[in-house]
Amino acid sequence: MTRLGSSSGGTERISPTAHYTGQTWLHHGLSDPALGTSTGRALFYGLAPAQTILSTFGAPTIDGFLLARHQAIDSLLRDAIEDGSVSQVVELACGLSPRGLRFSRHYGERITYVEADLTDMARLKSDRLERAGLVSTTHRVTTVDVLAEDGSECIADVLESLDLDRGTAVITEGLMNYFAQPQAEQVFSRIAAGLSRFPSGLFLSDLFLAGENNNPLAKAFEFCLGVIVRGSVHLYYDDENNVVSAMIESGFTYASAERAVDVLAGTDLRIDPASKLVRIVRATL
Ligand SMILES: C[S@@+](CC[C@H](N)C(=O)[O-])C[C@H]1O[C@@H](n2cnc3c(N)ncnc32)[C@H](O)[C@@H]1O
Repeated sequence: MTRLGSSSGGTERISPTAHYTGQTWLHHGLSDPALGTSTGRALFYGLAPAQTILSTFGAPTIDGFLLARHQAIDSLLRDAIEDGSVSQVVELACGLSPRGLRFSRHYGERITYVEADLTDMARLKSDRLERAGLVSTTHRVTTVDVLAEDGSECIADVLESLDLDRGTAVITEGLMNYFAQPQAEQVFSRIAAGLSRFPSGLFLSDLFLAGENNNPLAKAFEFCLGVIVRGSVHLYYDDENNVVSAMIESGFTYASAERAVDVLAGTDLRIDPASKLVRIVRATL
């Protein structure tokens, strides 16, 4: 596994969406100021008027979508830690997500939390956390390229650094719709193969489905999302059955893909219409 050196924290090769989502978590009280960036603030407050308009017309908002997917994944991860099936977590493409920080603070030494991203982002995050004194023996940041088949930055390499006797979860958030279907399915297979070495394995991910994003509100929302991610969104799978089949084909033994709104049912969290558009994949083996 590639180790991170220290750096000045240059952000030139980091996707703007990671900064935007980082500021969203901060704005909504889910993150730590150590993970805020000036790029994130500029993007977030620049898009605020558009969000207000979407919200006024009852349309899905980017913020509502981001919060729904984040909190739905939190909820399923918490369940797995509480029922004892998971005590190690790898968050791939972590960006400036505060989940590692929040879960490590809450569960302490009960869990090991590894955050991983491409080199520049991993270095930025590691620097920010270290400077704020927020890393520990059970919470660290490393590099990964989920598209690497092998080598020092592949998924298998990151998973091999963990205790093979403990139940393990892999999370991706805001990643899979960047990849075309064949590429995404290779990533699913790599995750399933990596997790098969542990006594229990859980994969959690958000996913937009092609079959559910064709009404006018969803199209308007997809357009806004496309502007932030510079048009590079790929939608595939028509419905939950297609997702489940793809997960089983990838090597998982059980899978579901509930809408975020259903995962969050019964909580007191604000429900944005966007929470109906995004699915949360939960696959185990
Ligand atoms: C939209 S951001 C999401 C960040 C974070 N998960 C969140 O929800 O705030 C996408 C992240 O994916 C990372 N990424 C893109 N391609 C990747 C790859 N091939 N391997 C690992 N990470 C990747 C980017 O560096 C970026 O941090």
